[in-house]
Amino acid sequence: MRVFVAGAAGAIGQRLVPQLVTRGHEVVATTRSPEKIERLRALGAEPATMDGLNASEVGEAVARARPDVVVHQMTALAQMSDLRHFDRGFALTNELRTKGTDYLLTAAQAAGARRFIAQSYTGWPNIRQGGAVKTEDDPLDPHPPAQQSQSLAAIRYVEQAVLEAPLTGIVLRYGSFYGPGASEQMFELVRKRKLPIIGSGGGIWSWIHVDDAAAATVAAVESGADGVYNIVDDEPAPLADWLPYLAEVIGAKPPRRLPVWLARLAAGEVVVSIMTSIRGSSNAKAKRELGWQPTWSTWRDGFRYGLADGDADAQSRSPEHSAA
Ligand SMILES: NC(=O)c1ccc[n+]([C@@H]2O[C@H](COP(=O)([O-])OP(=O)(O)OC[C@H]3O[C@@H](n4cnc5c(N)ncnc54)[C@H](OP(=O)(O)O)[C@@H]3O)[C@@H](O)[C@H]2O)c1
Repeated sequence: MRVFVAGAAGAIGQRLVPQLVTRGHEVVATTRSPEKIERLRALGAEPATMDGLNASEVGEAVARARPDVVVHQMTALAQMSDLRHFDRGFALTNELRTKGTDYLLTAAQAAGARRFIAQSYTGWPNIRQGGAVKTEDDPLDPHPPAQQSQSLAAIRYVEQAVLEAPLTGIVLRYGSFYGPGASEQMFELVRKRKLPIIGSGGGIWSWIHVDDAAAATVAAVESGADGVYNIVDDEPAPLADWLPYLAEVIGAKPPRRLPVWLARLAAGEVVVSIMTSIRGSSNAKAKRELGWQPTWSTWRDGFRYGLADGDADAQSRSPEHSAA
């Protein structure tokens, strides 16, 4: 198939393009930066330049590509650091999830694409009441922290727009990425002990290796009915479990601990929420309906063996894989 990947040079795109090419798809891959064109070509794609927030550029790029499938992987999170002002840091990403989705959906339909896949996120958007692990049928958070309300609205927007569009619309709610090119920013915070355990550290995180997220996207390009799918590993886990483990694995000192009241003052409500009260997500539907399985079924192996590039070798060194 001809697959148009909007935002192909980012953390997910650069792992997705080679997997699509290996599966025999013709890939048109976009960036805004002329200097990334050769990188996209080296991944096996036909490069295209477009600004996802410029309707005519999007329309022209998609029309030229004449894709069967369009994949929306545009975010603007490379500079995201200020979790206190979450919505401010997500403002461009939110535009890409609203206006950017509209432009791309319009262009996809005009070009006759049959399938549209969009990136969403699972973790902090889940309702923070009831069980620790949520499915796609559970509601999103009706009362997010004030500083996340615009970002949650943008997630609701992209999901609804894709599901309502008159083509096969698939929303992939990726968990928190890690892996080559996807987790350095966060791991640096752990190295610098800037990521503390707040309160009991009971916020449940769902992780996903970026190569597994890419594989799920390939599965959604090739099959799967309209709908929302959580793309996460098999082990949602509280911060109090994964953070000390990650610190040990990357050779950092153990994380500091902070009481909730102090964290609220120092870092704000969003940080307190993601460290103490968010819920995790189940991947049962994606396994069942996309025929996908995460290779890194738990972050325990992924953090230890799956962080370097060329992790096919690393995978074979992990205990689980050598036992297999
Ligand atoms: N689920 C998750 O946990 C999740 C999801 C997304 C990102 N992240 C994290 O956020 C960090 C940054 O992500 P990233 O490396 O993917 O970078 P990013 O800055 O978020 O960019 C992602 C892609 O979006 C494209 N893009 C951005 N603005 C655009 C626009 N106006 N028009 C068209 N395309 C646009 C970029 O293209 P250009 O080549 O033009 O820059 C790039 O290909 C990484 O650590 C990543 O792991 C996490």
